Amino acid sequence: MSTLLAQLAELQERALAALAQADSSEAMRTWHSEYVGRKGQLTTLLGGLGQLPREERPAVGKVANEIKVALESALEERQAAITADEMTRSLSAEGVDVTLPGRQPLLGRYHPTTTALREISDIFVQMGFQIYDAPEVETDELNFGLLNFPPGHPAREMQDTFFTTNPDVILRTHTSPGQIRAMREYAPEPVRVILPGKCYRNEDVTARAEMMFYQVEVMVIDKNITFSDLKGVILNYANQMYGEGRDIRFRKSYFPFTEPSVEIDVDCVLCGGKGCRMCKYSGWLEIMGAGMIHPVVLQNGGYDPAVYSGFAAGMGIERQAILKRSIDDIRLFYDNDVRFLERVAK
Ligand code: DAH
Repeated sequence: MSTLLAQLAELQERALAALAQADSSEAMRTWHSEYVGRKGQLTTLLGGLGQLPREERPAVGKVANEIKVALESALEERQAAITADEMTRSLSAEGVDVTLPGRQPLLGRYHPTTTALREISDIFVQMGFQIYDAPEVETDELNFGLLNFPPGHPAREMQDTFFTTNPDVILRTHTSPGQIRAMREYAPEPVRVILPGKCYRNEDVTARAEMMFYQVEVMVIDKNITFSDLKGVILNYANQMYGEGRDIRFRKSYFPFTEPSVEIDVDCVLCGGKGCRMCKYSGWLEIMGAGMIHPVVLQNGGYDPAVYSGFAAGMGIERQAILKRSIDDIRLFYDNDVRFLERVAK
């Protein structure tokens, strides 16, 4: 009997020592089956109870039972400590520190070309213009011929135009061919449209010129349209785009599809006309080309020039954004440098 009691005492001691080492729920389960489970050491030891004289069995059994209860409550205690410890550890590992400043999500913005196009469109739509969509891939005939470009005109030369394998099909070099398309759709009804879109020129890329850029074409045809109508519409545009009280100025120019032709300047948005770096000390910034639609072009579009007249204008969209937001290099628009986009986007 004494041997068994000694063994039980020794087992209890060993079990408690092992329990003190167990430091996870997993180790806890292993410990339980090792010492107090159905196939554990305590059960095995008690298998020897049968060998004891009958009268000694109850006392030894009682001790064994007390040991079992003691071990189980030690386990419970240890388990509680471990669980609390595991909870603290996982909280600090995965926890959210609510005192940290939040992370700013990156907000998407409109590209400055989009912003400028929307501003331009809004202004003209308010004046009763419709938006007309014309293709970027054009025929040589529409891009040049029907717009009254003489055969040897420099704009037709190889360095200006992107050709396709079909010599008659090119990437449009301006939005003006859309004029003919819109005329042919509306003639002989009056028409008042803007035509925005991409244009392509086979040019060296510089701070002032890109191979791909956007233009907006403006076109009005009706009876009795005069140069004053052109002036009124563009002055209103300049005031809304660049701020009230703007001056505009016309300089005579030449385009094959308009007669007379002008280039239109607005007083410098930076210095108000006093002269600065932006306007190269001239006080003026060029914003577009324009003119009265050439009779031949009206005719090509299906209008009788004896009855109808019209004006047209064409402007670079990036140029409008450059002037309005003081951007100094057109290449920035399509470099996709987020810093530029964040700086100029509204
Ligand atoms: N298409 C011309 C260009 O790209 C711009 C232009 C000038 C358009 C005069 C017009 C206009 O409608 O009347 O340089």
